[in-house]
Amino acid sequence: MTGPYPDWDMADLEARYRVHKLWQVEDKDALIASHAGAIRAIATRGELGASAALMAKLPKLEIVSCYGVGTDAIDLAYARENSIRVTNTPDVLTEDVADIGIGLLLAVARKIPQADAHVRNGSWRKGNMPLVTRVCGKKLGIVGMGRVGAAVARRAAAFDCTIAYFDRHARDDLPYAFVGDLVELARQSEFLIVTLAGGDSTRHIIDAAVLAALGADGILINISRGSTVDETALLAALETGAIKGAGLDVFWNEPTIDERFLQLANVVLQPHHASGTVETRKAMGQLVRDNLAAHFSGQSLLTPVV
Ligand code: 8YV
Repeated sequence: MTGPYPDWDMADLEARYRVHKLWQVEDKDALIASHAGAIRAIATRGELGASAALMAKLPKLEIVSCYGVGTDAIDLAYARENSIRVTNTPDVLTEDVADIGIGLLLAVARKIPQADAHVRNGSWRKGNMPLVTRVCGKKLGIVGMGRVGAAVARRAAAFDCTIAYFDRHARDDLPYAFVGDLVELARQSEFLIVTLAGGDSTRHIIDAAVLAALGADGILINISRGSTVDETALLAALETGAIKGAGLDVFWNEPTIDERFLQLANVVLQPHHASGTVETRKAMGQLVRDNLAAHFSGQSLLTPVV
């Protein structure tokens, strides 16, 4: 295992398998070298992944089971070439991640953290807090219309938002407007919620041009991967007021994020926790364990990626 899971998963994994805990040892190479001939599975997490370098050290490796839907940190090409199966945890986290997309948007626009502070620190007795920004009925652009994007759209529809989206292709099964040019989508939108998969093809797709098009009244929400946003451009836009605010669950260098974010009053920050409910995390852990069990009993994988 590359990193810990909750206790209920650890107990079950340790009952079924001999578990080597990479995060607990100083000398990771020594641990890997001493068990390389026996390790048949990696249980990892979305943000930890499995590099080609790690997999190459494990000649008996058969499967990488990922606790998370995003497999951008797993070298899928290497896995494919070496007949290593890969599984992830789609669907079970979709609704919670979408909830946080809307939650962050409300938190930034309605300034919920500042409102809370206004009550707690006694400011209310001296006067009302400044007026804030409406969310309902506004123009929302969703960047990436996959499972999470569609779940965000369903929620935003209930807020009477006008919904448009950017993706590689239009989806015939959905009623929202497709905009194939991301800068154009940003120009049309008052809020942008990024739900894309990470990886090379989406790296820094939210750049200075997109942020300039979103404009001084615009709010950016990122519940995808830190890699999708050019943080240098985002920090500049937030500091200069080129956009109004941002709600961020993910960062390119988690958990040691750029300290400039901490100085900003127009951001709401989350520690990559959009899927972090007990309910979803239990379902994710179960799916990781079910995929491993299926593999080792010769059955079809539940949620194969490779
Ligand atoms: C998790 C995620 O926070 O699903 C993903 O891709 O990044 C998240 O759901 C993460 O994988 C848990 O460690």
